[in-house]
Amino acid sequence: MFSDETKQAILGSWRLVVPIAETAADLFYRRLFELRPEYRTLFPDDMSGQKRKLIKMLAFVVKSLDWLDDDWQASVAPEEDLMLVVLAMGRRHSALYRVPDESYAVVGEALVWTLDYGLGDAFTPQVRKAWIELYTLVAQAMRMGGATVERDTDLVSADDAQRQGEIALVSQQAEVGIDEARLGMREDVS
Ligand code: HEM
Repeated sequence: MFSDETKQAILGSWRLVVPIAETAADLFYRRLFELRPEYRTLFPDDMSGQKRKLIKMLAFVVKSLDWLDDDWQASVAPEEDLMLVVLAMGRRHSALYRVPDESYAVVGEALVWTLDYGLGDAFTPQVRKAWIELYTLVAQAMRMGGATVERDTDLVSADDAQRQGEIALVSQQAEVGIDEARLGMREDVS
């Protein structure tokens, strides 16, 4: 799906993001709401849980890049299948959170800005290109998932969608091996 160079650029730069993940999430949402203040109301007042979920999801996506080609043919549980997870996430974004289609470009811009700011010199043109490639693919898949949802229909309840999201994230977390306490993102750690 991605060239070895692209994978290495993403994996290498992600390793640098992990120690500053909490700050990166702060920067990302600050930048997003600077670009589009009107998106703030789409999100809950308390953003701490959201920041944690975003980092976990990005970590899962990055980790999936590391699969060997043969692994793509292996059978995995639905909640660990990158494309199913991303398609379902796209459905939730469309059906539940009602994100406008054009917001994907803005979120991509905020993400690239955050990586640029956070990584400094390590955000080389090659790394930038690799992240844009990855984001474009994920955003496209999410929008495809979203396109399967008819707005204003109640295909899944908010609770069900939330639960599905949590199950997917929890099972991915073990895979990803991110130490939440170290990131200072655990809800029971102040
Ligand atoms: C690659 C792109 C994106 C990723 C990886 C991502 C990731 C996530 C994750 C992991 C969640 C947690 C809940 C769930 O899994 O359903 C979430 C929720 C949410 N996202 Fe995204 N998202 C992306 C794009 C966007 C865009 C373009 C918007 C538009 C502003 C957006 C707005 C939201 C909102 C409003 C919520 C729900 C907050 C809440 O009510 O708790 N996301 N996102």
